[in-house]
Amino acid sequence: MLRVATEFFSLPVEEKLKLYSDDPSKTMRLSTSFNVNKEKVHNWRDYLRLHCYPLEKYVPEWPSNPSSFKDVVSNYSKEVRALGYRIEELISESLGLESPRVPRVLGDQGQHMAVNFYPPCPEPELTYGLPGHTDPNALTILLQDLQVAGLQVLKDGKWLAIQPIPDAFVINIGDQLQALSNGKYRSVWHRAVVNADKPRMSIASFLCPSDDALISPPESLVEEGSVAVYRDFTYAEYYKKFWSRNLDQEHCLELFKNSRNPAAGSDTSSSILKTS
Ligand code: OGA
Ligand code: NI
Repeated sequence: MLRVATEFFSLPVEEKLKLYSDDPSKTMRLSTSFNVNKEKVHNWRDYLRLHCYPLEKYVPEWPSNPSSFKDVVSNYSKEVRALGYRIEELISESLGLESPRVPRVLGDQGQHMAVNFYPPCPEPELTYGLPGHTDPNALTILLQDLQVAGLQVLKDGKWLAIQPIPDAFVINIGDQLQALSNGKYRSVWHRAVVNADKPRMSIASFLCPSDDALISPPESLVEEGSVAVYRDFTYAEYYKKFWSRNLDQEHCLELFKNSRNPAAGSDTSSSILKTS
């Protein structure tokens, strides 16, 4: 997977530009930064964004250069999907729900991929590859470049570098699992930094609830006499809101807080981000 991704980003610029688009509604596109039409400050990243489920529907629109791209990325996508579903089942069990509950609630999940390429940056302290954010989907499976680190996560108010481990993935909880678990699982704040010497690659696979999945925590996770932390919403509603904004604004989940919940204050980690 890392090899075809590297081959893809080594193609001549003119070849890659044929795939360029800054329209987030496109199901296959090469783009840059994060959301160029909404952001004031750009980031040092190029990315290829693909939809990966159902494969028969989307593979035909994927790049055919390099020639092994479709095959390798299809196989990778299938394996990653199976792993993601297994993890969601275990999360379900850990919440005291019957085991397939979480993946069932999420419906026939969508799957997207971001192949991220961070070129060397002459002044890395002036920018990010990706600024601090949480992933808007349910679960993210991230394959990191083994040679060049760059991922950081926010823990106890400090950014920690996540060193790549051979043959291991980084698993991020996304906003949907935070809402669905009524805040028991937290969507992790993370960012990518860049460096002056070496390009870095990462491959993020996102499992996303089906558009009509109703994100609503099971009753057993809502304290007796209380209401859910977030109001019920569909994933389609959330996703639309997410892409209509920039990453440095108030956290998207904040907009879905249940006003009837007594603990509906602001998320502390997002206020840390604003001041750092
Ligand atoms: C992402 C992401 C981190 C990385 O694509 O959402 O957080 O290390 N990527 O590239
Ligand atoms: Ni992310």
